[in-house]
Amino acid sequence: MQYEVVLPAAGSGKRMGAGQNKLFLLLANKPILIHTLEVFQQDENCTGIWLAVKPEEREFIQQLLEQYSITKVKGLPNGGEERQHSVHSCIKEMEQVEIVLVHDAARPFITHEIIMRLVERAKEQGAAIAGVKAKDTMKKVRDGIIIETVDRESLWMIQTPQAFRFDLLAEAEDVAEKVGFLGTDEAMLVERLGYPVHIVEASYDNLKMTTKEDLVLGEAILKKRVNNG
Ligand code: CTP
Ligand code: MG
Repeated sequence: MQYEVVLPAAGSGKRMGAGQNKLFLLLANKPILIHTLEVFQQDENCTGIWLAVKPEEREFIQQLLEQYSITKVKGLPNGGEERQHSVHSCIKEMEQVEIVLVHDAARPFITHEIIMRLVERAKEQGAAIAGVKAKDTMKKVRDGIIIETVDRESLWMIQTPQAFRFDLLAEAEDVAEKVGFLGTDEAMLVERLGYPVHIVEASYDNLKMTTKEDLVLGEAILKKRVNNG
């Protein structure tokens, strides 16, 4: 089942504190961005990649694409102030496809198996997003005092990819832009229009490289994969 993917890559990686876009940092001697791109380059169901980039980083990224033989990139539009704007700038440039995935460029450990399940669910149901069950006891806190213990069974930690019928996501983003709504993920934009969003159980390995500690975990995940063949 075919799809195209949008990879927002126009952040600045402030929490990583590397003084540069964290996507250029190396994991096992390869930029994080390239690890992520290679997953989609190697997935035969992926027919196109859209990368939102900072204008001043476009040339460097194009060099990386060439160096690592990433051939599926169809466009590199300018990212925006917020992640949502970066994703929207890709959606606006894309031709209509049936299914579009949005995936953080900073999540290099996504697998073909999870992608496939998301694409299938989105095709059947319209919208499907990756997540994992909360592991710890969850409590709501205000001013340092517990308000309540939340039923963990109903709590999921949400990741990307998030997969949608293209027209559904395009509509949700257009409406959000029009009314000035800013969400923290694409699903929020779709949810607020009243469409059901389905969850696909993904993997705790599907980390977002956010802080320095994540780089250590990331190296460990790569090592585990090499050992498991
Ligand atoms: N992103 C983007 N445009 C923005 C902000 C973020 O394309 N205006 C991208 C990032 O490049 C990243 C993904 O969205 O691949 C997830 O965002 P996040 O992990 O928050 O990355 P940064 O915004 O770069 O990091 P920070 O929030 O620590 O500055
Ligand atoms: Mg950010």
